[in-house]
Amino acid sequence: MNKNNKNYILFIALSAALGGLLFGYDTAVISGAIGNLTEYFHLTPVETGWAISSALVGCLIGAFFSDYLSNRLGRRATMLITAILFILNSVGTALPNSFTMFVLFRIVGGIGVGIASMVVPMYIAEIAPPKRRGALVGNYQLAIVIGIVVVYFVNYFIALQGDAHWNLNIGWRWMFGSEIIPSILFLVFIFLIPESPRWLLQKGKSEQAVAVLEKINAPEDVAQVQSEIQNSLEQEDKGQFKNLMNPIYKKALFVGIGLSILQQLTGINAILYYAPEIFKSLGSSTDASLLETSILGIVNLIFTLLAIKWVDKMGRKPLLYIGSAGMTISLAAVGIFIYNEAVGNYVLPFLILFMASFSISWGPIVWVLLSEIFPNKIRSLALAISVFIQWVANFVVTQVFPSLIENQWLKDNFNGAFPFYLFSVICLFSLFFVWKKVPETKNKSLEQMDALWK
Ligand code: GLC
Repeated sequence: MNKNNKNYILFIALSAALGGLLFGYDTAVISGAIGNLTEYFHLTPVETGWAISSALVGCLIGAFFSDYLSNRLGRRATMLITAILFILNSVGTALPNSFTMFVLFRIVGGIGVGIASMVVPMYIAEIAPPKRRGALVGNYQLAIVIGIVVVYFVNYFIALQGDAHWNLNIGWRWMFGSEIIPSILFLVFIFLIPESPRWLLQKGKSEQAVAVLEKINAPEDVAQVQSEIQNSLEQEDKGQFKNLMNPIYKKALFVGIGLSILQQLTGINAILYYAPEIFKSLGSSTDASLLETSILGIVNLIFTLLAIKWVDKMGRKPLLYIGSAGMTISLAAVGIFIYNEAVGNYVLPFLILFMASFSISWGPIVWVLLSEIFPNKIRSLALAISVFIQWVANFVVTQVFPSLIENQWLKDNFNGAFPFYLFSVICLFSLFFVWKKVPETKNKSLEQMDALWK
């Protein structure tokens, strides 16, 4: 493949990955705004919780419809819809007349995130050549992390622009409104990228498909790639739902769901969402806790970059082993220090180790695997189900985590360490899951995935 193809494919992947950036931005923007929002609308604790979790409800709805949309309308049109939802969301949450309106628009944004979280990795995998697919889909996770880190800084910068009165009435509006910039960028870039050739062939639009394949493959490979895709589509096909009932594909779906649930049960989002609170409860000042949280964000970024560098060379499974082992050890250590009240300077380095271990493995690689392990005949449905369940798991973990910390019995018996022990045990289990159940997909074409499960 020549250099032009290579750069064009990277351009396509990065444009689509903007959907991931919005995913990160949208889920993290609330952290800087929630205090003033609560005061402005005089929210009760339940309403404050709802202001945060309403987006996750939207994500569930979005993931639920993502299969239908991406099959019916194509990957590109589906991404366009999400960009429009993101734009509506940024305007609606910046200028709401009432709290109800705010929540409605946050659900709209969540729907965008839910759809994007399924269609973007699938689209990138369907465009990518097998040898670079891990790195290209990894860019999607990189974009999620960049979105999270950027919005911390944007919120901080906005908060500096005025006094307390300005922040209470205006500041939080700018925080939500600022999302319109990446949303419009996403919209524009989708116009510049092609439809997925695999979707085009599935819909019988071979001419258009060939035109795309010519742009992303070396000329001598086009015919072969096309016929491989065509062959895989022509095998017995009873519709995605019935195909999934086939025991072979059930196995694939089981692995997809397992990866999704385990990624969330590492506790990553509990730790990310509550990091400042965790640091404060361990004795840091507010400023120090924000600084420590930003350190975690930067570590997340650096180690995601390393994963992108290594995923296609080392393969998926070795990185997952390293990550599971690192998370098991670091979470157990955090638990032990908290239990013995020897927190001081010890917890931060082990949370950094946890973050590094997650970012080099389960963060990006679960997205890579989900986008590629499912054969063409079941991909969009199986992926949508796995992503839907991932959002359910995300919701459960982030809702239950505060009560695991607050529960009196757990406090008396574990001294605040229980959730960290629990996550640690689950990470140990995840290592066995990878060993026994997950196939290696390095260098295989999407058309070779069928053979993996037989
Ligand atoms: C992965 C997870 C997501 C998490 C993010 C943190 O993308 O799927 O839930 O917020 O990593 O880096």
